[in-house]
Amino acid sequence: MRTLADLGDLNGRRVFVRVDFNTPLTDGGEVADDTRIRAALPTLTELRRRGARLVIAAHLGRPKGADPAFSLAPVAARLSELLGTDVPLAPDLGAVPDADVVMIENVRFHEGETKDDPELAARYAALADVYVDDAFGAAHRAHASNHAIAKLLPSAAGLLLQREVETLTGILEAPPRPMVAIVGGAKVTDKIGVLDAFLQRADTVLIGGAMCFPFFKAQGHAVGASLCEEEGLEPARRVLTGPHADKLVLPVDLVCGAAFDAGTEVTPVDGVDVPDGLMGLDVGPKTAERYGALIRAAGSVFWNGPMGAFELAPFAAGTKAVAEAVAACPGTTVVGGGDSAAALQQFGLGDTVTHLSTGGGASLELIEGKSLPGVEVLS
Ligand code: 3PG
Repeated sequence: MRTLADLGDLNGRRVFVRVDFNTPLTDGGEVADDTRIRAALPTLTELRRRGARLVIAAHLGRPKGADPAFSLAPVAARLSELLGTDVPLAPDLGAVPDADVVMIENVRFHEGETKDDPELAARYAALADVYVDDAFGAAHRAHASNHAIAKLLPSAAGLLLQREVETLTGILEAPPRPMVAIVGGAKVTDKIGVLDAFLQRADTVLIGGAMCFPFFKAQGHAVGASLCEEEGLEPARRVLTGPHADKLVLPVDLVCGAAFDAGTEVTPVDGVDVPDGLMGLDVGPKTAERYGALIRAAGSVFWNGPMGAFELAPFAAGTKAVAEAVAACPGTTVVGGGDSAAALQQFGLGDTVTHLSTGGGASLELIEGKSLPGVEVLS
């Protein structure tokens, strides 16, 4: 992968920088979480230090056409604050102001963006001399602003993209031992590729979230009204009878409720048979303690997916215990985007891990061993 070091003299040159600023907005239309914006600052600052002028491009959401609700205006405003310089937003590719730093409007306002359209890519490329991709979170997409354009200009990975790829592949290829992977979330089918990757490479794989119910059902336990994905049964059976089944650790107790609601009555269950009419919404205290001990003693940890419905206060304890154990682990700790990153931030532990990935789907696909189009094109 070509990196910033391969780009030579950038003084006075215009660099088209693709970033992933796909951030949640508040009801009032302000940036609710600027993690992804902050994560791109080292690249933006380094390019400016080298004298480059920046044309920054990003997507926001999945708009149908040029829908103002998906404007990058709030993101440009936040970026201006963080960079300490005004970042004008250019709605029209034909009239981009000649500023030191400028941001173009949501690339998904153009129909050709998600089609990897070479003509649209040529319009982007006409705005700059060099292309830098720092949008790791979008690297699993082959779109005009992170794929087709890279073939039209001298191109390289930014510092964030480089760090993400090196850290995630590093923990797969040469993890300090023992390596503990924690895989949670709602569906086995979403995570089976990641689960398979870690069953081969990790020493222990801890399972949490509703994805444990297909495993329990396959073992003959009662799952009550728990979210239990039917299509997850076959992969769960395959894992349970597979060559690495001894690495798999499942919960030993649960916290249940009658409804997915913070006000529901909370029923602790010792064991994993869920009573009729109840649903498992978190792992129990024995599980949290057991998982915590394994995580704290690990040489390296990879965590993706919550242990339960952590957004509901009565069912947050399992995920919190895992987050605290990951934070306390002295080894290499990597957290793969999405809900687990949100959970870490919710518990105020975002700064405690070795690497908090900005990629949700992209980090999972990389770990599954899939090639990422946005990375491949920089090779
Ligand atoms: C993300 O938030 O995961 C990335 O920005 C990709 O967004 P997408 O799933 O809409 O392509």
